[in-house]
Amino acid sequence: LRIAVLVSGSGSNLQVLIDAMQAGALPIEIVGVISNRDDAYAVTRAKDSGIEVAVLSHVESGKRMGIKTFEKHATAQLEAWQPDLVVLAGFMRVLSADFIDNAPAPMINLHPSLLPAYKGLDTHTRVLCSGEREHGCSIHVVTAELDAGQVLSQGVLLIRHTDTPDSLQKRVQVLEHQLLPWTILQIAIGGVSLTPSEQASSILPA
Ligand code: GRF
Repeated sequence: LRIAVLVSGSGSNLQVLIDAMQAGALPIEIVGVISNRDDAYAVTRAKDSGIEVAVLSHVESGKRMGIKTFEKHATAQLEAWQPDLVVLAGFMRVLSADFIDNAPAPMINLHPSLLPAYKGLDTHTRVLCSGEREHGCSIHVVTAELDAGQVLSQGVLLIRHTDTPDSLQKRVQVLEHQLLPWTILQIAIGGVSLTPSEQASSILPA
């Protein structure tokens, strides 16, 4: 499975995929990484592993690249790499419906909540403020509506009375590092379909 990964931050999820690819533990080839930030540590991780990186971040007259310009370059890059799957792993820009609908491959996103609850930002703080008992992460198909596409898989944890937004972020990230490669493996072996008409109900890892 040829995958392209879009990142904005530390890239710990990208690193999990790089390690799995290099260990032969996942039938994937990471054909390229796109970052919308030049200072993202994910860029260093990709370069250190010899993976092609496109940094689409430049700031013009004090403003960051507009989303239309970003999407134009990202589309051209993806068309050149010809991925089978695009993975948004900590990618923090909202993409337009036009980009998503015309992407050259299906896209999945990793989101730090049990969707459909807690779409958007600051999920750990909001979950704690609401007194929830459970939290976790979801992988879903990217559609034009933010964090609303079909959920493919979820990792769940029980919230402890000692949890803070920071501790939850760390505990959810441990789950993400298991859920992302597991879900990509399911996609690679045909256990999960990304075609809407064939999507069954969500699957959960055992
Ligand atoms: C993850 O926690 C993800 O849920 C959120 O951003 C974080 C990315 O982490 N959207 P990393 O860049 O993979 O380390």
